[in-house]
Amino acid sequence: MASQRSSLDSQIFIIGCGISGIGAAQKLIKHGFRNVNIIEATGRSGGRIQTGRLGDNIVEIGANWIHGPSKENPVFRLACDYRLLDKQSMSEENQQIKMDGPTLFNPNWFSSSGQKLGPDVMGPAMELFIKLMEKSQQFNETGGEPLPSVGKFVKTEAERLAPEEWKEDPANIDLRMAMINTLLKMECCVSGTHTMDDVGLGAFGMYKTFPGLDCTFPGGYEGLIDNMMKGLPKDIVLYNKPVKCIHWNNTKNGPDTKTLPVLIECFNGETFAADHVIVTVPLGYLKKHKDTFLSPSLPLHKLHSIQRMGFGTNNKIFLEFEQPFWDDECELIYLVWEDETDLSDVVSDVKMSWIKKIFGFTVLRPTEKFGHVLCGWISGHESEYMETLSELEVLQSITQLLRKFTGNPTVAPRRLLRSQWFHHPYSCGSYTYVAKGCSGYDIDNLAEPLPLNGCNSKPLQVLFAGEATQRSFFSTVHGALMSGWREAERLISHYTPTSGSFTSKL
Ligand SMILES: Cc1cc2nc3c(=O)[nH]c(=O)nc-3n(C[C@H](O)[C@H](O)[C@H](O)COP(=O)(O)OP(=O)(O)OC[C@H]3O[C@@H](n4cnc5c(N)ncnc54)[C@H](O)[C@@H]3O)c2cc1C
Ligand SMILES: *[C@@H]1O[C@H](CO)[C@@H](O)[C@H](O)[C@H]1NC(C)=O
Ligand SMILES: *[C@@H]1O[C@H](CO)[C@@H](O)[C@H](O)[C@H]1NC(C)=O
Repeated sequence: MASQRSSLDSQIFIIGCGISGIGAAQKLIKHGFRNVNIIEATGRSGGRIQTGRLGDNIVEIGANWIHGPSKENPVFRLACDYRLLDKQSMSEENQQIKMDGPTLFNPNWFSSSGQKLGPDVMGPAMELFIKLMEKSQQFNETGGEPLPSVGKFVKTEAERLAPEEWKEDPANIDLRMAMINTLLKMECCVSGTHTMDDVGLGAFGMYKTFPGLDCTFPGGYEGLIDNMMKGLPKDIVLYNKPVKCIHWNNTKNGPDTKTLPVLIECFNGETFAADHVIVTVPLGYLKKHKDTFLSPSLPLHKLHSIQRMGFGTNNKIFLEFEQPFWDDECELIYLVWEDETDLSDVVSDVKMSWIKKIFGFTVLRPTEKFGHVLCGWISGHESEYMETLSELEVLQSITQLLRKFTGNPTVAPRRLLRSQWFHHPYSCGSYTYVAKGCSGYDIDNLAEPLPLNGCNSKPLQVLFAGEATQRSFFSTVHGALMSGWREAERLISHYTPTSGSFTSKL
């Protein structure tokens, strides 16, 4: 190793210090790579994992749950190793629970005429919706789906089945259809999309889940990031350095074979030379900057997949109350607009009616810890518009909304905190969904490293990780982590000798 440069000396830069970037660094360093750095646009680690404060309370501005907390889930395993979860979340019993949609939550329903609705009225709407969502997941990419989108499928089927299924109770059909609308808005938040009409039906079942009842981090999701960062060398992250352009395929910098193939250019003018770059920026950022972020620009099929894949907005609005207006046991509050009985009806005026896109509120628990705090959910263009309003304007609109639905003119949240993921310059939205017309191949295209089949160039110059590049678990924290590990493994196995010396011919 004396004079020769070992593969472990390769200059590796990871762009983005979210969990995928941190995960990649973790694996590379554990393997022995000595020159690994993370370049991060903002002043913090964690990206879309971000814990904030509302008064004395911890609230999650980004990711909240470990989806499917059980042994196969790497985020669950890490959280257990770091002792970040409570006893119940780690119990065998908890790990075996199969989540099936919103059935597990204890609901309250309020209608726009200030009525509280009961399970006798709302239950059948929930059941029908859950059945249709399960059906939506059973299609696959081999074709044969009857309609292009999940939205079209659920609406068509609900309209077809409802009169038959609810014929004993015709007086409630309209309210139940309105509830289906509310549940579609909820699914928009889950998928991070403006409308379920944009979510492809054929590929919807590509998203996989682990068993386990979704759990949270009592001390905040950022505790996971803090613990992972403690395992990395100090100063590994270069903060506040947004990357402007990745210049790759560099053969021009002279005949010197030691010239590194990639040059990273930051907005502040700084440059860094690299053998390998792992890009982990969100798909939203790539969509917005796809024409300038790489030079030479991305190959066409990668560009097309970036364009085709969906990346939308889901935001949270946290509200603190003196007194609850919901039941003791309630975990989820649904708002049912009595005028939304027509499933094909689309909200037209975003500015006037953005508030109607809030499907409801989750109740933060346990109450002994949080007091009376709700989290409102809003997706799509209405969510993006909400971000442009002042906190006070949002608070006033929500106060009006709650007074209307509870029929109580004194309901008044005393504090508010909301997320603004669409206008976040380094997220440009919330997370990935498989849009109409997309397939798993688009995700594979995103994940494909550059150069494509570098016969004459140095291999694996630019690699791609991040939530959007994970075929089965996109849009999640565990999907992001797995993608970072995957790209680290790609580099590790590239340098792992099949025979002879471990030293590469760099
Ligand atoms: C509101 C919301 C709720 C969510 N809820 C859940 C949940 O309950 N459970 C769950 O599993 N997942 C949830 N997610 C998804 C989860 O947060 C993400 O999938 C995951 O955190 C993504 O990690 P990542 O490393 O791929 O990307 P990120 O965390 O976004 O990291 C990318 C990093 O790249 C940086 N960056 C961007 N551009 C540049 C540039 N030009 N130069 C340098 N750095 C740059 C960014 O600043 C960021 O730090 C939620 C997300 C949101 C927004
Ligand atoms: C896709 O669905 C069809 C019809 O339901 C089924 O026959 C086929 O086996 C499925 N393919 C995969 C890969 O799941
Ligand atoms: C990379 O460089 C080589 C040699 O200069 C050139 O032939 C090739 O077209 C380049 N690839 C791209 C994607 O620009």
